[in-house]
Amino acid sequence: MTPVEGEVRRRADRLRAEIRRHDHLYHVENRPEISDGAYDKLFRELQAIEAAFPRLITPDSPTRRVGADPLSELPVVQHVVQMLSLDSSEAPEDVRRFDERVRKAVEGPVEYLAEPKLDGSSLELVYVNGVLDRAVTRGNGREGEGVTENARTIPSVPLRLGSPDEPATLGSSESPDAEGGPADGAPPGPAGGSEMPAGAFPIPSLLAIRGEVLMYLSSFEELNRTRVEAGLEPYANPRNAAAGALRQLDSRITRTRPLEFFAYDILHVEWAISGTGEVEAVDTGEVEAFDTDEEAVEALRGWGLRLPDRTRKVADVEEAIAYHAEFARERDDLDYEIDGVVLKLNALAPRAGLGSTSHHPRWAFAFKFAPRQEVTRLERIAVQVGRTGKLTPVALLRPVEVGGVTVSRASLHNREELERKDVREGDLVRIQRAGDVIPQVVERVEGADEVRREPFSFPEQCPRCGEDVEEDGPFIVCVNQFGCPAQLERGIEHFVSRAGLDIEGLGSETVALLVEEGLVRQPADLFDLTPEDLLELEGFAETRSTKLAAAIQAAKKTELARFIYGLGIPEVGATVARVLAAEFRDLPRLREATPERLEEVEGIGPIMSEKITAFFGDDARAASVDAIVSKGFELVPPPERQGGRRDGESVVFSGRLKSLTRSEAKKRVEDRGDRVVSSVSSATGYLVKGEKPGSKAGKAEKLGVTVLDEEAFLKRYPAAED
Ligand code: IVH
Repeated sequence: MTPVEGEVRRRADRLRAEIRRHDHLYHVENRPEISDGAYDKLFRELQAIEAAFPRLITPDSPTRRVGADPLSELPVVQHVVQMLSLDSSEAPEDVRRFDERVRKAVEGPVEYLAEPKLDGSSLELVYVNGVLDRAVTRGNGREGEGVTENARTIPSVPLRLGSPDEPATLGSSESPDAEGGPADGAPPGPAGGSEMPAGAFPIPSLLAIRGEVLMYLSSFEELNRTRVEAGLEPYANPRNAAAGALRQLDSRITRTRPLEFFAYDILHVEWAISGTGEVEAVDTGEVEAFDTDEEAVEALRGWGLRLPDRTRKVADVEEAIAYHAEFARERDDLDYEIDGVVLKLNALAPRAGLGSTSHHPRWAFAFKFAPRQEVTRLERIAVQVGRTGKLTPVALLRPVEVGGVTVSRASLHNREELERKDVREGDLVRIQRAGDVIPQVVERVEGADEVRREPFSFPEQCPRCGEDVEEDGPFIVCVNQFGCPAQLERGIEHFVSRAGLDIEGLGSETVALLVEEGLVRQPADLFDLTPEDLLELEGFAETRSTKLAAAIQAAKKTELARFIYGLGIPEVGATVARVLAAEFRDLPRLREATPERLEEVEGIGPIMSEKITAFFGDDARAASVDAIVSKGFELVPPPERQGGRRDGESVVFSGRLKSLTRSEAKKRVEDRGDRVVSSVSSATGYLVKGEKPGSKAGKAEKLGVTVLDEEAFLKRYPAAED
């Protein structure tokens, strides 16, 4: 190797370590330290090096996450250890019975780890010498499908084991290679595993783990929304969407799907003696390596895996039952689907004695929740007119309780979907509810001796305004864009919604009244409403009228991003609106942007840019926006990015402050839109040095991070005025 190549290799290694650290901070710990732009810069530099020197590409390089050539079929791959299922029940008696059996077999006190049973798709990951070697679906438990390339595209699947706590130093390629190695006293890892923090377990030579691939409900809804808008069939639930994405033949498709991985079990672990004979543990297996599941889980965390949160150690089965009840109540507030609680015997040694059936281990049990699917009668199909004039069929159901909530309406999406499912008025249907997702009709359930009605036919006129409807792909659309009261109502509801202008007291009933009474004929009219106008409405007395009129006026000073979102531009949700606001910084500049200019913005593709320019290019829309703006809006752009850093500066504290507690200081930082992080890197905004600072202060100085003493801190972060 030439000296130049040696230099380049060191640079590539550092870039990989740094990118890996940022991936972990972003996807596993949810506390990014650098902006997307700064991250992209690191990533592109590494890509450029690898393109110029393909010999330097490593299988665990972060650039290998981007997807590979499609396969013709998925290979069948053996699991390292059989992937068993779990014994399960919804009945507390069964859980108590499980506990009794465990107690009979185990001497001394019994404790369990209780954790959420994630409702996704099970996956085995195998790491050889710390590097991801393969990923295998559960399949029949002994062998599954090899989905390695797909798993590589999931950001929370580490391509290499190791903790990101010790950042590699970037920028100075002369810094000694040993930097970033194990801290003093840490067990030595095998070659290459140089990112171990003190106190963690060494990187095994072979590690097989098991976890769940899932999709957050919010991502799932977004995915389905775009699918329905594109005329594609929506996924039935997040589990199916995740399983489908995981089993794609083309990993580049998987990469576009928002998948998450949570690890929850070590299937097998072994350490081989390294070349220098330093690591003592040899082919031990989990039981010899760890005393408890708790420890095993900590080891996983130390190796950089993400684990389900809210895991709790419970001392007896009644506590487990209470945990289950608590979780069942909170189930609707979570952004992911869980279908129960898993209890696992915490002590590992007795697990072998308990053994397994051919189907499930006897040391674990899934205490399930009541299902969130029910069968009921579809009484009638109604048609709703949306903000953009789309006619949506809605199932009016015989009310039924699904997982604790009474459901009487469910979405049928669009006409094609209705035809595909062939559900008709009078049919028995299976419906399902997932978190906050609007209940859906899953399928028709065949009933005996049933005479079915005719398939539903869409009206030829808009059910609301009586104008003609036309076909637009899978949709039927009311053509009366500016005259249809339903479109106006939905548009205003969207404009003033929580993510839009967020006007309190202006719900859908009030909007309907305002439109019906002719007080509002276009969105701009809202801002002319006086308390006297409102007094005319049913249910409006003095206080309510004054309050609402004031709230409407107050909403004219708002964030630019909220305003953009509120306009209801097709394809522009809250996230895109924020991106647009940050990029264009005022409304006129956004309105003038050409499709080419829009496409330069990260995250804006040709379809979106076309929709945006078409929206502002439409004369009637433009007039409506002009009318709104003429009411005197103050649209506030997001704070300027400082030094390319997103979401303000990151601040690290070291040492004690005399005048403030740590949490008061933290609050001041957060009130200013900055954030407190725990470790120093070159991207850190400020290090606040108090009394008896630790090593972080020295490190910050070395990295050239601005150091603030207490006085400077108090000046920069004054107490917020109330
Ligand atoms: S432990 C042999 N923990 O549930 C026991 N499984 O019905 C190893 N699952 O196929 C599994 N969340 O995919 C465990 N926290 C959790 C889980 C979990 C979901 C899945 C797993 C398994 C299925 C069994």
